[in-house]
Amino acid sequence: MTMRVPLLVLVLSLGWSTMGCSDGEDPSATTSGTGGSGAGDGTGGAGGQGGEGGAEARPFDWGLPPGFPRPKVPEDNPMSVVKVELGRRLFYDPRLSGTGDFSCASCHRQELAFTDGLARSVGSTGEVHPRGSMSLVNTGFLSALTWANPLLDSLEKQALVPMFGEDPVELGLAGKEVELMERLGAEPLYQELFPAAFPGEDEPLQLKNLTRALAAFQRSILSYRSPFDRYTYGGDPTAMSTSALRGKDLFFSEQMECFHCHGGFNFSDSVMHDGSTFTELMFHNTGLYNIGGTGAYPEGNTGLREITGLAMDMGRFRAPTLRNIAVTAPYMHDGSVTTLDEALDHYGSGGRTIASGPHAGVGNENPYKSELLVGFTLTPQERQDVKAFLESLTDDALLTDPRLSDPWVETP
Ligand code: HEC
Ligand code: HEC
Repeated sequence: MTMRVPLLVLVLSLGWSTMGCSDGEDPSATTSGTGGSGAGDGTGGAGGQGGEGGAEARPFDWGLPPGFPRPKVPEDNPMSVVKVELGRRLFYDPRLSGTGDFSCASCHRQELAFTDGLARSVGSTGEVHPRGSMSLVNTGFLSALTWANPLLDSLEKQALVPMFGEDPVELGLAGKEVELMERLGAEPLYQELFPAAFPGEDEPLQLKNLTRALAAFQRSILSYRSPFDRYTYGGDPTAMSTSALRGKDLFFSEQMECFHCHGGFNFSDSVMHDGSTFTELMFHNTGLYNIGGTGAYPEGNTGLREITGLAMDMGRFRAPTLRNIAVTAPYMHDGSVTTLDEALDHYGSGGRTIASGPHAGVGNENPYKSELLVGFTLTPQERQDVKAFLESLTDDALLTDPRLSDPWVETP
């Protein structure tokens, strides 16, 4: 089965193979300018091995700058250009919903760093999710997925939740597995892409491969071109403003403590990458709530406790990446913090105080709160500086990268 039909060639030429290297500001342009020849850098070439020959399984080039870690790729799901392209198609395909008008991208929008701008997401049937959508940027580096679930340890597994989950309904595909695969099988493009992405398989069009392709696409959503990155990895001392640089020092200071939980290249303490020797996975209570002084968080959103059942895990969540944080408001697992200023107020007072209403309580006194949440005072200038630093984590190239955008609007 050879797949070198015009359709496929067209699809690939619109995708990663063009590498989008025309952007002169891209610090990776010098390292990734292989024009999709697949030569790559040797280290990222997990794809295309294991007997997958031919152009279909062309190795994937991460295009990451030197010094930037690479995502860890499961052995049974190597990256390839065509698999990433298939995953991108599926990610933006409304056929992946019970109602036919909803896709992963409905709640993970590129221009918002793959969040949805809502405090709490709304599913295909209108059901409101208890939590807010999360940025999918650099998800390939996460040791566990979602706000507080250590059991969801792979993107392949996680994709099943929005598809088939019933509490809450997101894509609403429960009980429609057969119908879904039939629907996808009727699409000529998928008849090409599934066999090309999973060469040598008798039945490539399978749910297992669907989630694998989605995972491969998500591993390709990489943020590494922000002013902070150009300063840190690109050797450009002018990439960050002096205000942002002062803010960086504050962020990494013992006064603010942010870096303990939002440190490292991905601004999170729950990361893994190709060089990881152990899994870092942490959950913290930041004193966002303290209902009635008991330490309680609102029902249905008690964090890690929902999985472990342990009292001490009340309100503990995974620290999300702060990359592109300026475009992913509202904040926190339930979107209850609307602006970066409000987030700084919350941390400054060592936990949020809610004066009245059903959630009233002094977060600072939450008995389960992390000891790193001590509070601090910032001058107006320092506050400006910290915000300038957080804004320097915005990767405009990512937000508009054509390799990550909706492919269905490009081809008729
Ligand atoms: C209804 C809106 C909605 C849809 C549709 C949706 N998601 Fe999400 N996504 C969310 C929410 C909300 C969360 C946080 C879930 C939680 O913590 O329980 C999330 C979390 C994630 C995460 C974890 C990110 C992280 O930082 O840990 C991944 C990965 C993800 N979604 C991928 C997908 C994929 C792939 C699809 C399509 C198959 C999809 N999502 C469809 C709303 C949505
Ligand atoms: C003890 C660990 C810890 C420390 C210290 C910490 N954070 Fe966080 N951060 C978290 C966790 C956990 C969350 C998610 C909490 C939730 O949703 O309830 C979070 C969420 C955030 C968010 C919202 C992210 C989003 O996508 O919604 C921002 C912004 C943020 N932190 C900024 C900071 C800043 C600035 C500092 C320093 C003042 C800081 N954090 C210190 C653990 C920490």
